[in-house]
Amino acid sequence: MDKAQILIASNRGPVSFSTAPDGALEHRRGGGGLVSGMISVATEVDGIWVCAALSDADREAAARAPGARLDLEYDLDGMRVHMLDIPEETFQGAYTGVANSTLWFLQHMMYDTPNKPSFGSEFRRRWEDYTAYNNAFAEALVAGAADGARVAVQDYHLALVPRILRSRRPDLRIAHFSHTPWAPPEYLRLLPDDIARELLSGMLGADRLGFLSPRWADAFLRCCAEILGADVDFSRRTVEHGGRVVGVGVHALGADEAELRASAADPRVAARRETLEELVGDTRLIVRVDRTELSKNIVRGLEAYRELLLAHPEWRGRVTHLAFAYPSRGDVPEYREYTDRVLRVAKEINEEFATSGWTPLVLEVNDDYPRSLASFQLADVLLVNPIRDGMNLVAKEGPVLSERDSVLVLSREAGAADELGRHALTVNPYDTVETARALHRALSMPADERRQRRERLVEAAVALAPRRWFQDQLRSLG
Ligand code: G6P
Repeated sequence: MDKAQILIASNRGPVSFSTAPDGALEHRRGGGGLVSGMISVATEVDGIWVCAALSDADREAAARAPGARLDLEYDLDGMRVHMLDIPEETFQGAYTGVANSTLWFLQHMMYDTPNKPSFGSEFRRRWEDYTAYNNAFAEALVAGAADGARVAVQDYHLALVPRILRSRRPDLRIAHFSHTPWAPPEYLRLLPDDIARELLSGMLGADRLGFLSPRWADAFLRCCAEILGADVDFSRRTVEHGGRVVGVGVHALGADEAELRASAADPRVAARRETLEELVGDTRLIVRVDRTELSKNIVRGLEAYRELLLAHPEWRGRVTHLAFAYPSRGDVPEYREYTDRVLRVAKEINEEFATSGWTPLVLEVNDDYPRSLASFQLADVLLVNPIRDGMNLVAKEGPVLSERDSVLVLSREAGAADELGRHALTVNPYDTVETARALHRALSMPADERRQRRERLVEAAVALAPRRWFQDQLRSLG
């Protein structure tokens, strides 16, 4: 394999494949500013992106490409991608069993602890899968990295990669970035002790660790001190471990304004917008756009809307709530149950309040990016109420595209609240009465205040474009 100076490693890559009705493989680029930001830097600086095949179509594409290098077989706009075809069972154990069902639940503090988790021998087998999966990534990076190359490892899927890489290739400069929150030690301690230590020391194989918020960085430092007994300097944010000093940095991530505006100019957005305008008529519009993700707190969001209609009957017939909840992680049973609950609560709200001329709530569960962008343009209020969230880009993208000075109702537990909180209406995501009050205040806010708040939101939201976020990480490696 040819060698690169900059390597990116992430579970979900920048391109995904699907099979067309005629059996041909089609590919499309992953959406969002993060992928674009990293691609734009990677294509400029001699980069390779290493990712996993996530579907059968991905696997087929990887198998067809020489050495699983997709760019040698498909036109990827100058981007080099090595897609790893990790055996299905190993991948499922690592991705569904450990990354999504364990690490994600821990970092978002989502366990119903009287019942879960329970770490038995089944979990140990999955941890072996996770280790094998991390080894497969490390192997590909070892093979693809030029002397002294810089490697940017992304997220909880790949926590063990930095340490494995360092032992194999001490010449490399390694960064690891967490896009999730980080749990406090009292919570990370739910993990078996040896695994918690492996996780932390796996990441500490890096030269530099990055988090989206000072809250997550500091929680990580506390875990290193209390679980590993490492020597931590909290003011300089460094950890001494295994004879090395690892720097921990905070790099917030902003919306990609140029990319967003370009996507919003697509004629499909205008078409969706017309449909939405017809749907909501002259009612005010509360919008939410999420994956159907437990941490996004969709059910409490719906309950807050219900509280609003109960506490302020004057809004009945005058407001519509558009809730987009796109399918996610259907392999995890809790997500399937949650999706059912979202549907059930939505139905109950409509049964309780709908009249012949008014549908209070429109819930859409099929993914439609142009429609999401159109809803940002039209929203009067944008509701973002996760129980915990690394950053939350919807909170940043919505204000950028808003054409009606939408007011942001934002959970204080989202990383984005660090930068946007002052200009949003912040809420405790567990308190649906407070959230309903914030919705009412947002709907009733005078035009001047809405405009001022939105201007400040946009300023804060675009301050750190993904491209800069990524360059900062590379620069921090020296
Ligand atoms: C979060 C994670 C990402 C992940 C995304 C979608 O934002 O930080 O790493 O790609 O969720 O999740 P999925 O499991 O569908 O890749």
